[in-house]
Parts: sequence; structure tokens; C-alpha cells
Amino acid sequence: MAAASATRLLNNGCRIPLLGLGTWKSDPGVVGKAVSAAIDAGYRHIDGAYSYMNEAEVGAAVKKKVEEGVVTREDLFIVSKLWCTFHAPEDVKPSLMQTLTALQLTYLDLYLIHFPVGFQKVLGELFPMRKGRVLVSDADYVDTWRAMEVLVDEGLVKSIGVSNFNISQLERLLSVARIIPAVNQVELHPYLTQPELVEFCASRDIALTAFSPLGSPGRTVLNDSADPKDLLKDPVVEVIAKNHRKSSAQVLLRFHVQRNIATIPKSVTPARIQENAEIFDFELMDEDLQSLLTINKNWRVCQLTMLQDHQFYPFNDS
Ligand SMILES: NC(=O)c1ccc[n+]([C@@H]2O[C@H](COP(=O)([O-])OP(=O)(O)OC[C@H]3O[C@@H](n4cnc5c(N)ncnc54)[C@H](OP(=O)(O)O)[C@@H]3O)[C@@H](O)[C@H]2O)c1
Repeated sequence: MAAASATRLLNNGCRIPLLGLGTWKSDPGVVGKAVSAAIDAGYRHIDGAYSYMNEAEVGAAVKKKVEEGVVTREDLFIVSKLWCTFHAPEDVKPSLMQTLTALQLTYLDLYLIHFPVGFQKVLGELFPMRKGRVLVSDADYVDTWRAMEVLVDEGLVKSIGVSNFNISQLERLLSVARIIPAVNQVELHPYLTQPELVEFCASRDIALTAFSPLGSPGRTVLNDSADPKDLLKDPVVEVIAKNHRKSSAQVLLRFHVQRNIATIPKSVTPARIQENAEIFDFELMDEDLQSLLTINKNWRVCQLTMLQDHQFYPFNDS
């Protein structure tokens, strides 16, 4: 693995670059520059979503890099996610078309169901709330999945997958799916190692993408963790970083790619975007990987506890 464009094979024959740029919380006005810097630094995978509210600027930056001849569209792996308000099967294709229009693309490389819980559709609201509670729906992600499969048939997306799905939800989906999910994108880092989920996905040839790989430092949005932690300052991580003359962030990212797990660190800082790409020129030893696995605390940044009463809330059994 010598480059930021190193890939892993998906179960449908497509390849996913192991390193991608996260774009959540990357504000309009800066996200485009981040995408440009990432492509210049060798990233070929951009992780986005309708709910990040910045897809038009991401798309404009991608288009410019293609026009400049830095990359071709086919070099890139562009990901987006179906938001919870669009789980009704009839809303799936219109939602994808909205994303494709914003991105100025004719197809996506990967489209994910962002979260297994559906919400009611209220114009202009990502989290429709009434009396302090999210207006959830009873949409079943299995029905949503059938509409996702049609998008592959129509050539609008190369691969489909899910995000934040637990093992029983994956098993339920697999029992009816015509197209097996290519990817499950989940929170994964040494404080949340999820060994059973990693093992299950490996056994079913579902690739994992690790989100919040740095532990989402400094996050204020949707952060309901009662117990904030600084993974970048963990002593075990710091010692390994020192031994390899790398940064804590580079060790945390290498931890995934060395296990064939894609990862999507977010940054809008060009120096960090570059730093996060420099993870293909060193190798963690088995002892390093074992040490990183032993600091697991089952600590989840992305909990969405306001949804925990819903039958499809994915984190009650972990
Ligand atoms: N599917 C889902 O439900 C879901 C949920 C959460 C996230 N995601 C995806 O995963 C991506 C990453 O997750 P995340 O944004 O929560 O967290 P993250 O990537 O773990 O952390 C991002 C934070 O780390 C900082 N950072 C980046 N590189 C650094 C470095 N080398 N040294 C020190 N700090 C560094 C960034 O700051 P600056 O930007 O200021 O440099 C930013 O504040 C998201 O952007 C999104 O694309 C998906």
C-alpha cells in the first residue's frame, strides 16, 4: 500500500479507496477548499451526505478538479447518504436525484441508508421535532432497501450500503436482499472497536467504513456523550505514534487501513488533510494493533439517544 488511493475490493467487484475525506460539519465556504486540497493530496474518496447541507459546494470542487485534468470522474469514489426523512420507498429516487443534481454528477459510487430509523417528512427540516421529540416514522428499512436496489438497476449508483446498522439489522436485511450491502459505515476507533460487528461484516463480505476515526475531537453538534474523551491524547496512542515518528491521528487512521477498513477523517485544514494522507509509508506491528484494541471503552460519540425508544434504534444491544 503505497498511496492515498489504496483500495479494497467490494463484494460487487467495485473498489473503495481506503482513505476518504469526511465532510460533515465542514461549512459552506470552506468545504470546497477542503475537497480540492484532499484531491491534490491524493484522496480519491469523498464522504458526503444530503444532511451535511454542503453537497453543492462539494460537487463544484470535484467538477473543477475534473475540468483541470487533475483527476477524472472515474478516478473518484463519491459517497452520499439517504436521509431519514426519505425512507418511504417513493422518496428514495427523488432524494438521490436531488443529491446528484447538487453534486453535478450522473452517478454515485456508493449510496448509503444513513441511519436505520426513519423520520416523518416535514419540508425543510432534517430533524422534525414536536414537543421536544423527533417525529419518527414507522418506515421499514427493508422497504427502503428495495428502492435502493432499483437505483443500482438504473445505473444511478454503482454500489449501495447502509450506515449505523447493527448485526441483527444486517441479518434481517441479508435475509431478503437481492443486492447484498457493499458497505456498512459505522463509528469505529480504538475506544469503540466493535469486534463482533467487524467479525460479522468480514464473514458476510460487507466492507466497513470507519467514521469519526479520530473520536470527533471538539465536536459540539449532536454530541450527547455524557463522558467526553480525547482519543488523540490517549497515552497508548501517543506512545505508538512516538515509536513510529508519526502523529496520533496518523496512527488512528493506519489502525483501520491496515485492517482493510476504509476510513474518512474530516478536516478543513490543509496541513491536516495532508497529514492524514501520509499513512501509507509505515506499518503498525501486531503488538501495536493489539494494544490499540485493548483500550476499547465502548465509547460512542454518535449516539442519537433521542431515538433510543424506536424499534430500529441500532445501539441498544451494544
Ligand atoms: N454515517 C454517519 O452517521 C456518520 C456520522 C459521523 C461522521 N460521519 C462521517 O465521518 C466523517 C469523520 O467523522 P467526524 O467528522 O465525526 O470526526 P473525525 O474525523 O474523527 O474528527 C474530525 C475533527 O478532527 C480534527 N482533525 C482532523 N485531522 C486532524 C489531525 N490530523 N490532528 C488533529 N485534529 C484533526 C478536525 O478539525 P479541522 O476540520 O478543524 O481540521 C475535526 O474537528 C464525517 O465528516 C462524516 O463524513 C458519518
